[in-house]
Amino acid sequence: MPKRFYITTPLYYVNDEPHIGHAYTTILADVLARYHKLFGAEVRFLTGVDEHGQKILQAASAAGLKPQAHCDEMAKRYKSIWTQLSIDYDVFFRTTHSQHKSFVQAVLTNLYAKGEIYSAEYAGWYCTPDERFWMEKDLDHDNCPLCGRVVEHLTEKNYFFKMSAYQQWLIDWIYTHDDFVQPLFRRNEVLGFLRQPLADLCISRPKERLSWGIPLPFDESYVTYVWFDALLNYLSATRIHPDAGFTPEFWPADLHLIGKDILTTHTVYWPIMLHAAGFEPPRTIFAHGWWLSDKGKMSKSQGAVVRPLDIAAKYSADAFRYVLMREMTPGQDTNFSEEMFIQRYNSDLANDLGNLYSRLAKLWEKFNCSSHPIDDQISSCYAIDTELASIFEMIFEKIKIDINAELKPNSAIENIMIFIRGLNKQLEIWAPWKTGGQNISALGTSLAWAFRSLDLAATLLKPVMPSKMQELQNAIGMKDGIPHPQPGLNLFPRIDLKNVKMESHSRVKEVSIDEFSRFDLRIAEIIGADYVEGAAKLLKLQIDLGGEKRQIVAGIAQSYAPTELIGKRIVVIANLKPTTLRGVLSQGMLLAAGDGQRRYIIQPDGDAPAGSKVK
Ligand code: MSP
Repeated sequence: MPKRFYITTPLYYVNDEPHIGHAYTTILADVLARYHKLFGAEVRFLTGVDEHGQKILQAASAAGLKPQAHCDEMAKRYKSIWTQLSIDYDVFFRTTHSQHKSFVQAVLTNLYAKGEIYSAEYAGWYCTPDERFWMEKDLDHDNCPLCGRVVEHLTEKNYFFKMSAYQQWLIDWIYTHDDFVQPLFRRNEVLGFLRQPLADLCISRPKERLSWGIPLPFDESYVTYVWFDALLNYLSATRIHPDAGFTPEFWPADLHLIGKDILTTHTVYWPIMLHAAGFEPPRTIFAHGWWLSDKGKMSKSQGAVVRPLDIAAKYSADAFRYVLMREMTPGQDTNFSEEMFIQRYNSDLANDLGNLYSRLAKLWEKFNCSSHPIDDQISSCYAIDTELASIFEMIFEKIKIDINAELKPNSAIENIMIFIRGLNKQLEIWAPWKTGGQNISALGTSLAWAFRSLDLAATLLKPVMPSKMQELQNAIGMKDGIPHPQPGLNLFPRIDLKNVKMESHSRVKEVSIDEFSRFDLRIAEIIGADYVEGAAKLLKLQIDLGGEKRQIVAGIAQSYAPTELIGKRIVVIANLKPTTLRGVLSQGMLLAAGDGQRRYIIQPDGDAPAGSKVK
């Protein structure tokens, strides 16, 4: 019986359309699912959308729609985008599916009956956008530690799931299941988190505050916390989607792919929920890193999103899939820019892969190989010393390890590309354009061999680029080991960087000298420094601008103590509109560099006099 393989993506919130981050997880899942099919497994691939909760309600009201209508609309958008990116899922899961609601309620009823859920008065700091209560100690300068926004103090009765009771069980589970959390450093992170006492999980929201959710079966005046509802999708799908070939035997899932932002919900809440309800935890939860732009994590709030369809429309969906898969080592963060995209596209797809086909097809046509017999036994100056079948076997085995054991499609791709580059090199060594005329049959045999190799490489790359590799195989037209190439196919036209209009996300906007000269940059000396009350990151500095005294507020308190700044010369923008920060007047801004960890003030060389202009 074929091995079962059940893979999932997170269910994305329908408060916005998917960006590159969502596309990445979904493409990664699709690529892995296709490889597992190629290896002979019986695969089920689930993706979908998370439709309940405050965020969705707010997005619906902003769009002027009823929440269900908004969800229907967004689900359609997601599906259409996934189709355009060749995502071949088995189930597109929606948490508003009526059977999912019943499933969640059945689990809740069961847990409540077993005493795993209790009600209690709860007082805490609530973050509305994240729908989370925080304890005072968790707050970050009085704000939500997750999103930095304002929190409000609330006291209310709620229902709690006894998560704390299973803390030791989970620790033991992680220790005895090496593959449960991957990569390894994330496993250590979770174990680190579990060194602190685990609190019980508030799983209800009063309906008067939030009505858009699944009602608690034992108290209709509450709805279920959106994560408790959404996580259960992975399991409920195996029960409610026989239409997609699911049976309960597909549980436990083999692989939940997630981004590192949702590690705790998946590796702590979820296994405990399952265990308490009498189900096995999933086999592996793999957290990949983030796609970053020069502004940090790519997300809409950062204003630097890459819209997957924009790139796909410009360069093809398959090229987009290829570059995302090739560039990111799952687990690590990776920067996205259109320059990076084009470089990878040109080097791998246009030069190595596309060009190989064009060269082979041209030679085939030029020497009219079709009209000469292809003789595999032939020995000639073009003879190949290695058996194709064994090379293929070797690469196939390597790829299996890359995909199954290491979860590294980037290495799988690289292994195939090494083969492609090897073929290009072989062609250089044969140099049939120099000697081709001498023995056409031998040349034809060698070219046929190269076409067969390319055809096999296309099979191996098909999970990454399903349409383009099909197109390539159609063009090669392999029949019983004999190619029938179509001339003129340009699979991946080379992109000339000079002719490309870059999207704004990928290039820092250029400024003219005139624009730059509007900034009045000056040297100043710090003559006084102190903390700003209630703002842990801010310092208030008194500065001397060559006779003129000013006060500026700077976000450097975590990198410098006030005393070490006195006497330092700095660079300030002197003509910045004055503003008030935390009630303190700021008449300018200092320049500092930052690496995300700390700030470094910019200082002039030597004794550049205070007040002098920086040009
Ligand atoms: N609805 C929850 C998940 C519930 S699963 C039962 C959620 N949704 S989300 O819309 O915010 O999607 C989060 C996921 O999107 C991340 O875990 C990751 O898979 C993907 N990404 C979002 N931004 C990302 C990047 N910048 N880079 C890579 N992936 C990131 O959380």
